[in-house]
Amino acid sequence: MLSSRRSFSEIPRSTPHRTGVGTGIWYRGGVIPMDVSFMLNGTSVTLTDVSPTTTLLDWLREERGLKGTKEGCNEGDCGACTVMVTDVDGALPLNACILFLPQLAGKHVTTVEGLSEADGTLHPVQDAMIVHHGSQCGFCTPGVVMSMATAHLNGDTDHDTALAGNLCRCTGYAPIIRAAQEAASAPVPPRLFDLSKSLPAAASLPVNQPMTSDELAALYMSNPDATLIAGATDVGLWVTKQMRDLGDVIFLNKCADLRGISETPDGWRIGAMTTIAEVERSFAPLFPGLGTMLRRYGSAQVRAAATLGGNIANGSPIGDGSPAMIALGATIHLRMGDARRQMPLEDFFVSYGKQNRRPGEFVETISVPHQADTLHGYKLSKRFDQDISAVCGCLNLPVLDGRFGAVRLAFGGMAGTPARASRAEAALSGQPVTRATIDAAMVALASDFTPMSDMRASAGYRMKAAQNMLLRAYHSLSGAETDVQEVRA
Ligand SMILES: Cc1cc2nc3c(=O)[nH]c(=O)nc-3n(C[C@H](O)[C@H](O)[C@H](O)COP(=O)(O)OP(=O)(O)OC[C@H]3O[C@@H](n4cnc5c(N)ncnc54)[C@H](O)[C@@H]3O)c2cc1C
Ligand code: FES
Ligand code: FES
Repeated sequence: MLSSRRSFSEIPRSTPHRTGVGTGIWYRGGVIPMDVSFMLNGTSVTLTDVSPTTTLLDWLREERGLKGTKEGCNEGDCGACTVMVTDVDGALPLNACILFLPQLAGKHVTTVEGLSEADGTLHPVQDAMIVHHGSQCGFCTPGVVMSMATAHLNGDTDHDTALAGNLCRCTGYAPIIRAAQEAASAPVPPRLFDLSKSLPAAASLPVNQPMTSDELAALYMSNPDATLIAGATDVGLWVTKQMRDLGDVIFLNKCADLRGISETPDGWRIGAMTTIAEVERSFAPLFPGLGTMLRRYGSAQVRAAATLGGNIANGSPIGDGSPAMIALGATIHLRMGDARRQMPLEDFFVSYGKQNRRPGEFVETISVPHQADTLHGYKLSKRFDQDISAVCGCLNLPVLDGRFGAVRLAFGGMAGTPARASRAEAALSGQPVTRATIDAAMVALASDFTPMSDMRASAGYRMKAAQNMLLRAYHSLSGAETDVQEVRA
């Protein structure tokens, strides 16, 4: 019900693209100014008439004068802008450069300026960074420290993973990791535990920040040209890199009923607003091959913001979420107003840049049927961490009595959309699990796809790599060690 809220047409429009330091108002894309309340380093902040697509980084540095949070890439890649964002669900490391202010409504933001105590006592990770010489030029250091402090608060001692999204060009990671290891045994400053207790009282939200999927459905129906914003790990770059004016925007981050994973009699339902980090934490343990792959999806900061719904809805041919979900036999559930429809996820992707989604229709959930784990998830990219896949292969290979069952092979990076390899599937299904069967499937795969060459990989390399993923899965089924990180001399 939207009855107590104004519709888009009732809201006064502001001039887009007005940017400037110290103006008190920032407009960079997005038409309807918004009011936003959140906490910043222990102080309550209420902003009126801000452009919805003002990034936290711009606002901190240019409006608030808090320059400790650095701008490196301005596209989520380097982690120099990492801040800690706390709400009732806990604390997350997020990249401020691709975080729009309305995404902070009701949350607490801690920047590097707010990490130490009021009397100047440093946080244990700051102390340890000094002791272990974890900083040279210092440009990356605020972001590194904020990632470390968030992991420290969460009791996360997988330091490589926590810091994979923080680029340091001069110190080298050994001293930084040593600092993180030492700080791990120090107690968390109690103040940081208490941040979630001092969140701003629930304020009424602007019209373009619906609180339920019902509200979203009505709002989007009335303005089907609006841009939906979920985690903004794609949309953020449209603003910061492409300087696009997004026009009307609708934020999905307050739609609590679109978030979370639940088990049904048939399987699992994953709300569109469930983050990749949450999928990794709560769903991937059922399918360890998925977990291994998602660990390499962006960085901790990206996974904490990016949603499964956004990853699928953008239709990227090189996204990692869609091949995995297709291989698991997922169904996508779409909603437009009160009308709902569903389809096998692979049918959602029509052609490059075109999805089977109507104006005013949004992704509500993804469902995955119950099944035993037979998934192999392989992500191939130039870097191990924080890189987009050249090829992503998700191979669901059930085996019964020495024969392949109904296999599902889904690939990213091999076509204009994430897609199944139907000929290779046919070459495997019902056949004995032998090298000869795999060889036949590798040949068949060559007629499933005509990959393209680009900066990530040549067409020939992509095909060879995809074929070799089948071979790798075969060796893995035969009990061989196939993870290059696990191979020992
Ligand atoms: C540094 C960096 C690293 C990355 N690494 C990877 C990676 O390794 N693998 C990978 O797959 N991706 C990667 N990405 C891409 C990005 O994280 C994903 O595509 C992401 O999942 C998008 O989700 P989001 O919630 O941020 O979507 P948004 O950016 O908010 O939205 C993306 C698109 O989906 C639409 N949308 C969002 N939610 C819905 C919905 N419920 N219904 C309909 N439409 C919707 C939006 O309107 C927009 O068109 C990376 C991005 C960055 C910045
Ligand atoms: S400035 Fe590089 S991730 Fe934000
Ligand atoms: S200390 Fe210079 S980039 Fe890390």
